[in-house]
Amino acid sequence: MCIRELQMMGPLLLLLLAATGSSASASALAQPEARIINGTTVDIGRHPYLVSLRYRRTETSSYMHECGAVIYSEQAVVTTAQCLWNLPEGTKVLAVAAANTRNGSDGLVVPVSNWTLHPSFDYISVDYDIAVLILDSPLNLTRFGVRSIGIRPQRPAVGRLATIAGWGYREEGGPSSYRLEQAQVPIVSSEQCNQIYRHW
Ligand SMILES: *[C@@H]1O[C@H](CO)[C@@H](O)[C@H](O)[C@H]1NC(C)=O
Ligand SMILES: *[C@@H]1O[C@H](CO)[C@@H](O)[C@H](O)[C@H]1NC(C)=O
Ligand SMILES: *[C@@H]1O[C@H](CO)[C@@H](O)[C@H](O)[C@H]1NC(C)=O
Ligand SMILES: *[C@@H]1O[C@H](CO)[C@@H](O)[C@H](O)[C@H]1NC(C)=O
Repeated sequence: MCIRELQMMGPLLLLLLAATGSSASASALAQPEARIINGTTVDIGRHPYLVSLRYRRTETSSYMHECGAVIYSEQAVVTTAQCLWNLPEGTKVLAVAAANTRNGSDGLVVPVSNWTLHPSFDYISVDYDIAVLILDSPLNLTRFGVRSIGIRPQRPAVGRLATIAGWGYREEGGPSSYRLEQAQVPIVSSEQCNQIYRHW
């Protein structure tokens, strides 16, 4: 099965592939498409580079989990461009590291000072679906088990199993998961993925 966001992530996926044992690891980041179908609950300690991005859609609403993101360095976090597309400048965004729950009170909350979308991001084709957020203050990458993600320079081989993790939908059209979940999906070629998802 090919997960649409893996196709959409193109360059982002490349960036996110971490060396974790025998399987590649990526994160299903985009909302609302992000899905962790048939996943199992996992502790954030297994994916210590994963953060929950939260913001308020209106002045009076509360902070909601909107997307997953990964820690690239002490002060830079990477997500999809879709996550922040059209978000009014000045919107307060929080990055929550070391959290197991999507909207619980656990985790380390760090305000985001600014962000930038890839200049070639195209909302229709979803090409260049990548954005970088700069944190207000640096994360201490030696505390609370928080780590930056490992980067692989090359695409993973077709047929290899990748581990995806996040707080996405647990079934097609179903509710988002409260706890962090992971699932395994096979890597397919871009051609095969485009064929499966050409109606998108
Ligand atoms: C989820 O698991 C069910 C039951 O094992 C299976 O029928 C279904 O194809 C799986 N869905 C995906 C997307 O892997
Ligand atoms: C978390 O989200 C669930 C469902 O979306 C909601 O019922 C619950 O009240 C939320 N918890 C907090 C602390 O906001
Ligand atoms: C983004 O935030 C960082 C850290 O606060 C700051 O150094 C930088 O100047 C900001 N960049 C822009 C374009 O505002
Ligand atoms: C990060 O945390 C470690 C362990 O608690 C501490 O020794 C170190 O000084 C901290 N680094 C920064 C930059 O705060």
